[in-house]
Amino acid sequence: MPEPKRYTVTAALPYANGPVHIGHLAGCYLPADIYVRYLRQKGKAVKFICGSDEHGVAIIMKAKAEGISPQEVVDHYHETMQTAFKGLGISFDIYSRTSRKIHHETASDFFLKLYEKGAFTEKETEQYYDPEAEQFLADRYIEGECPNCHFPNAYGDQCENCGTSLSPTDLIEPRSRLSGATPERRKTTHWFLPLDHLSGRIKAYVQSHKDWKPNVYGQCMSWLDESGGLQARSMTRDLDWGIKVPLPDAEGKVLYVWFDAPIGYISATKELLGDQWEEWWKDEDTSLIHFIGKDNIVFHCIIFPAMLMEHGEFILPDQVPANEFLNLEGKKISTSRNWAVWLHEYLDDFPDQQDVLRYVLCAAAPETKDNDFTWKDFQTRNNSELVAIYGNFVNRVLVLMQKYYEGVVPKPGSFTDVDRELLNLLESSPEKIGASLEQYRFREALNSYMQLARAGNKYLADEEPWKQVKTDPQRTQTILYLATQVCAALAQLGEPFLPFTSKKLRSFLGIELLDWQACARQEFVAAGQLVSKGELLFQKVEDEKIDLELEKLKQKSMEKTVVPSEPLKEEVAFDDFAKMDIRTGTILSAEPVPKTDKLLKLTVDIGVEKRTIVSGIAEHFKPEDIIGQQVSVLANLAPKKLRGVESKGMILMAENNSGKLEFVRPGESFENGSVIR
Ligand code: 2FM
Ligand code: ZN
Repeated sequence: MPEPKRYTVTAALPYANGPVHIGHLAGCYLPADIYVRYLRQKGKAVKFICGSDEHGVAIIMKAKAEGISPQEVVDHYHETMQTAFKGLGISFDIYSRTSRKIHHETASDFFLKLYEKGAFTEKETEQYYDPEAEQFLADRYIEGECPNCHFPNAYGDQCENCGTSLSPTDLIEPRSRLSGATPERRKTTHWFLPLDHLSGRIKAYVQSHKDWKPNVYGQCMSWLDESGGLQARSMTRDLDWGIKVPLPDAEGKVLYVWFDAPIGYISATKELLGDQWEEWWKDEDTSLIHFIGKDNIVFHCIIFPAMLMEHGEFILPDQVPANEFLNLEGKKISTSRNWAVWLHEYLDDFPDQQDVLRYVLCAAAPETKDNDFTWKDFQTRNNSELVAIYGNFVNRVLVLMQKYYEGVVPKPGSFTDVDRELLNLLESSPEKIGASLEQYRFREALNSYMQLARAGNKYLADEEPWKQVKTDPQRTQTILYLATQVCAALAQLGEPFLPFTSKKLRSFLGIELLDWQACARQEFVAAGQLVSKGELLFQKVEDEKIDLELEKLKQKSMEKTVVPSEPLKEEVAFDDFAKMDIRTGTILSAEPVPKTDKLLKLTVDIGVEKRTIVSGIAEHFKPEDIIGQQVSVLANLAPKKLRGVESKGMILMAENNSGKLEFVRPGESFENGSVIR
């Protein structure tokens, strides 16, 4: 593509069912913001579009869990997310929301245009329906036994125990998570977007983008190759929360959230620009770039482009720089288990330290593979890089400038080879950093940026102006003149990465933000200009603070998080209950079942005999920690083979709302085989 005239840059619309956490930031919002700030500084025409995704089952589930309406959920989280993004300096041109009228209209019109073009096929299918709650059930609303590992609480789309992807009809004895009722299969009509006739175009489109990041290109190609021809996707749902299907006889049906959400980018652009919006979406000279996390790749690279192709008036995404996932302290970030660092909490705990988080998340961004955030690493990067190198360098320069020259930049003398090396670095840095940013290599770009601070720091340490000042005042002038130029380059080129610091530093030096290209120079602050003594740019993070954050993380993950409590099961007769033989037992041995993550093979002494029992608790307990523990065993459960091991009986567990498991057992130790009734 020749140089685009303008850039429409979007960041995935986050679901308004929870606050923003560091995984969202590192995966999508921070790289998007760095990129957009860079484009702006290059003087490009760019719009940065985002907003809250306020429809879909995720929102309804949250509302049910909290006993409030979906509208209340989205109102609350829209506000929380918007404020937090702003607090971190994420510089959207608009942060809209999909519940706005303009979006409902835009998405309905889009749907109707496709409908009128005959792009949809109307199909009757059978789906689960809850006769008590009187509604069709989204896959996540259905629970039952996993056909693969026999975990009793697998969801209609996936078994969380063995990870198998499921469809609701695969579940053994399915039940509704809304009412506990056994769902019935009922016929319902939906509008499907057939994709098979587009598969040639879509494949050609993807293949014309070998410039996409390997993780993105690879995922698209394997999806296209594996899906055995592209299947039609239903673009409507039976729900009462969302954008109503704009057709007669479509009562109780709404647009599928993944149909309306990407159109949200268009609606938000309209809201921002009024009549001017079209060139940002329809002009071939516009580059459309979607920043997303890896779980959104197929929707942005295949389904949304297919929708745009069918519509016919829009340009297609040019770049989809998706990142992988960020883990936290070695574990997957989980909203429901409260295993996350929440942005709004960080901003409270670390006031005025937005750039530290920006720095750490960019330096450790999961660009090519999943990566781990640890508080220890946060501390090290802050203390040994930002404080010890960057902050220390700038502070020394400003202090010495005051001390020797009362802040007036001195006139340099002739340059040595070492000086010239530093001057060359100043001149070449904008292009080097820019080239990395243009290839979405944010870590590399940040590293080249920090190279300036490292070089400046080393220059001062080697040249020792505090010694030279006594013997060679002329040389000292040159050193501090040059060091001041490095500080200024840091202020200029830091704008995309560390905007708060960059602004502060510019004010210390009394300089305005320059165009990126204009930064390829050797002098930013001329001799004779006045610079102030400034203040420390970064503060050391002490061990106690890190310990506190770690403690808070653990504490919060133990707290009860609000998830839907299990509905009561159907009544049973006493005789049915009495059929169960439950006894106390003691775990004698425990070992993992090979090639599984969840299963432990236990030997349990239940008084009358010793049993082998396979239990899905490996993610909660280490084998060595449970040997010797007393448990309760359902002893007359029919034996079952699990991963080739015959399991005789079941260990009874209590599970709290945040998914924590504990053995059920008598308060004091009983003889093995004692009866529980
Ligand atoms: O995964 C998510 O959080 C989705 N809400 C992303 C939507 S991106 C776009 F389509 F709006
Ligand atoms: Zn399973």
